[in-house]
Amino acid sequence: MFGRLNSVQISRIRNFSALVQSKALVNGNWIDSSNNDTFDVTNPVNGKKIGSVPNMTVQDAQNAINAAKQAYESKEWRSLTAKDRSNLLKKWHKLIEQHSQQIAEIMTAESGKPINESKGEVLYGNSFVEWFAEEARRIYGEIVPSPVANREIIVMKQPIGVAALITPWNFPLAMITRKAGAALAAGCTVVIKPAEDTPLTALAVAKLAEDAGIPKGVINVVTTNKAAPIGDLFCKSPDVRGISFTGSTQVGKLLFRNAADGIKRVCLELGGNAPFIVFDSANVEKAVDGAMSSKFRNCGQTCVSANRFFVQAGIYDKFVALLKQRVEALKIGDGQSSDIQIGPLINKMQYDKVSGFVEDARSKKAQIVVGGTGLPELGALFYAPTVVTDVPPTAQLYTEEVFGPVVSIIKFKDEAEALQKANDTNRGLAGYFFSENLQQVFRVAKRLEVGMVGVNEGLISAAEAPFGGVKESGVGREGSHHGIDDYVDIKYICMGNLKYD
Ligand code: SIN
Repeated sequence: MFGRLNSVQISRIRNFSALVQSKALVNGNWIDSSNNDTFDVTNPVNGKKIGSVPNMTVQDAQNAINAAKQAYESKEWRSLTAKDRSNLLKKWHKLIEQHSQQIAEIMTAESGKPINESKGEVLYGNSFVEWFAEEARRIYGEIVPSPVANREIIVMKQPIGVAALITPWNFPLAMITRKAGAALAAGCTVVIKPAEDTPLTALAVAKLAEDAGIPKGVINVVTTNKAAPIGDLFCKSPDVRGISFTGSTQVGKLLFRNAADGIKRVCLELGGNAPFIVFDSANVEKAVDGAMSSKFRNCGQTCVSANRFFVQAGIYDKFVALLKQRVEALKIGDGQSSDIQIGPLINKMQYDKVSGFVEDARSKKAQIVVGGTGLPELGALFYAPTVVTDVPPTAQLYTEEVFGPVVSIIKFKDEAEALQKANDTNRGLAGYFFSENLQQVFRVAKRLEVGMVGVNEGLISAAEAPFGGVKESGVGREGSHHGIDDYVDIKYICMGNLKYD
């Protein structure tokens, strides 16, 4: 039934403009909002409009939930086997692969992400579709030895139903596929609320899901710049059985609270305050490579970006000098050029936050080694890659996640001090450290209070690995085989009075 792409599907390979949608997707229909309101999508490089999308109302979102519920109960979706769902996901994966250049261009235009990073994100995001296409066929149950004769204990996993997916602007594709891939593999249907800054990538991949033959109503996309009432609806609606959110801790807490009433499954991937520790025993060149990739990926706008750099006294000067050279060499500008490594920040709010944090540190006697200013000659949202040393524990750069291209460095004396400082935060998403001392590697990896640890590595994300945090950085795991867990209920079936003799 779902073999290779047929010729009609192949001939439907879409060009860039055909993938840019100006309507939302509800129940297989590309529609305007019920009050015809729209909002513009702009390029953060220059503020120019690149498209506009429907500003959906709460009633529109309710219609999307209804469509997802109907699709969940429909024969077209329910009767599919795990292998059928796997094959649909494989087709979606193939179409995303075939349109990777177009999707990357849309992503760069709406997020400012350099084109090479956007291409990387398409590969990364699509790896979740591939991974969950494979996992769909491995959602195993159990038969447990029963304590009672003539009785069997059967455990099966069933989809939870409709899942609402609220996704951020920093990974406009990957955060959708990491959630939707798992949900669809499990047999759920979804309503996606993409970030208002980056809805075009979301709509483009939804179009490809439709081309792949995913039945109507299984994936719905509700675009809006009024996220709060729609988030509230997701929490209140009895038809939404799970909510998955990637974004700020503040919004995550609100969703968690509001979802409590309906005892919904909630998966939260929230902010971090990642420590990056460089011990005296480290290979300093490797540590600087790791720092560059962890800090400057997407202009520092990732939840797993290193936020506080703790560097041991013995290699401190060498690390700072090497890092300064590398930061000064970064190419900044419009990410459409393939040599650009740093684009603009996403919006004015983010720009003000980054520059405000640096000014706060400056006023508290931190030293600006390089950068520390906006770059208005490039555009209003460009901020220079910055290195700040002697950052005091009272500075916002230390206590909060900067989400921008700023390296904040603090000197430490010994391992105990580094661990105490690293863990001195209510966040716990990722942590990194560089050490060539095997005993230290195991000690520190175990003692860091985070969900993910990079040892001698600055880039840790992969479809195969569980992504998620501890403390106030979230609950649940995405990616890996654990990524399915939030989309399935465990059902126990007791088979009694069996006649075996
Ligand atoms: C995020 O920043 O939210 C995701 C980063 C990743 O998947 O590596």
